[in-house]
This record gives sequence, C-alpha cells and structure tokens, in this order.
Amino acid sequence: MKPLIVANWKCNPTTLKEAKALFNSVGKGIKNIKNVEVVICPPFVYLPVLIGASASARRKENFSRLAFGSQNCFWEEKGAFTGEISPRMLKDIGVKYVILGHSERRIYLSETDQMINKKIKLVLKTKLNPILCIGETKEERNQGRTQEVLKNQLISALLNISKSIIQSSKFSIAYEPIWAIGTGKACETNEAQTMGLFIRKIIAQLYGGFISKKVQILYGGSINSKNALSYIKEARMQGLLVGGASLNKQEFIQIIKKIAGG
Ligand code: PGA
Repeated sequence: MKPLIVANWKCNPTTLKEAKALFNSVGKGIKNIKNVEVVICPPFVYLPVLIGASASARRKENFSRLAFGSQNCFWEEKGAFTGEISPRMLKDIGVKYVILGHSERRIYLSETDQMINKKIKLVLKTKLNPILCIGETKEERNQGRTQEVLKNQLISALLNISKSIIQSSKFSIAYEPIWAIGTGKACETNEAQTMGLFIRKIIAQLYGGFISKKVQILYGGSINSKNALSYIKEARMQGLLVGGASLNKQEFIQIIKKIAGG
C-alpha cells in the first residue's frame, strides 16, 4: 500500500489567493511522484475551487494527481442543520477523504466520541474514506494511560460498525498525541511504533487480523522534513498527517519527496 501523506491545513490560509498558490506549488513540486498518495485537506470553502484548479492544471501541464479531503463533516445527509456540511455534498464535488475526530475539534468544538461514531458511519455509507484521529493528552500520557485512552477512543468511534463495512472501505487511523501537535515536540519513533502496534492489535480484536492489516495507520504531531521518514522507516507507520509543515510549500514538498525516495 502506498504511504498516505495528508496535509491538514486547519483554518489556513486566510485568502483564496494564498490557498491557490500553495496548492499549485505543491502540485507542481511533486509532479513526478507516483508512489505516495497525497491528500490535501483545505478549509471547506476552498475545496471546490482547488478541485477545479487541479483538474485543469492536470490537463494543461505536468501536475501531480492530488486527492482531496475535508477536515470534518456532519452526521446527517441533509436537512435543517444550519452551518453543517454533509458527506454527500463532499462526495459530489470530488472529495475522497474525511478527517474525523481531530483533537482540536474534540477540544474546541466539544466533539464527542458519539458524534464521531455517527460521522464515521455516514462517511463509510457515502463511500468516502475516513481518517480517524485518536491520541492522548500530556496528562494522560504522564499517568501511563495512553493505551487505555486509545482503546476507548477506538472502541467508541467504531461502535456498531460492522466488519463488512470496514472491509469494503479504505480506513485510516491517525495516532496523534495531543502533546505533540503544533508543539515542535514530535513523539519518539519507538513510542509511536508501540502505539501503532497497539492500535493494530485493537483493530484485530474488533475485526480480525485481515482487516487490521488493511487499515492504514498514520502518525501526526510536529512532522517536518527532517523527521518525516523516520516514522515510516523506524516507527513503521503507513502514512503521516501533517499540520503546520503542510502550509510551507518547501517543507511539504520535501516531506513527500523524502517519503517517495525512502
Ligand atoms: P502539526 O499538526 O503537524 O502542526 O503538529 C498535526 C495535526 O494536528 O494534524
């Protein structure tokens, strides 16, 4: 399976012009790279514009095939839910992936495991690929509770989701220790590897070994072009969720090139 490199732009940049410029630089900068799946997750409002720009750039010039993801979605298909965006709408405009359960949404938007579970169900039903984020706080880690937290988050997020549904989808889980996000203090690779193996073990308990091997496990938290490859090579992750460094075109292009060349 190709390593999955996901750019989580979060609430950035603040203008469409900057979003287009960043996207074009990345698309051109990695045009010959085929052995890595790159997913750009911009704010919702930029998605249709960038998806259109990507299609026309690929017709005209040598531009990389980039997939698109959203940073969130709602748990209902349609209806009276002011301000929400549904998986069907995302699917319709060409989005392939949806990040769910990011710690910033859990913290600032009070997103619960139950909400995340409802979102995953609809995302899978809509045939979009979920990227479920899980991770512990610094306090939980210091108390030696990391695995307990990860297990609880996984079990609640996957509640009542059948093996056959998971089997027919492309499902990714991002291990994102909250203390490592945006802090410049990335998780040690051996610790990330332990947690990656633990996540796989839980998935095997829930769905069996075959599915646990199929699920793609990513690492996220202070990834940069210097440490990126070590998470693939040493920590044996199948991809990365990149926040801050994905807003810097040179850094992000370097990350992809290192993974592709590694
Ligand atoms: P960071 O963010 O790379 O800026 O630490 C990662 C994330 O929140 O997904």
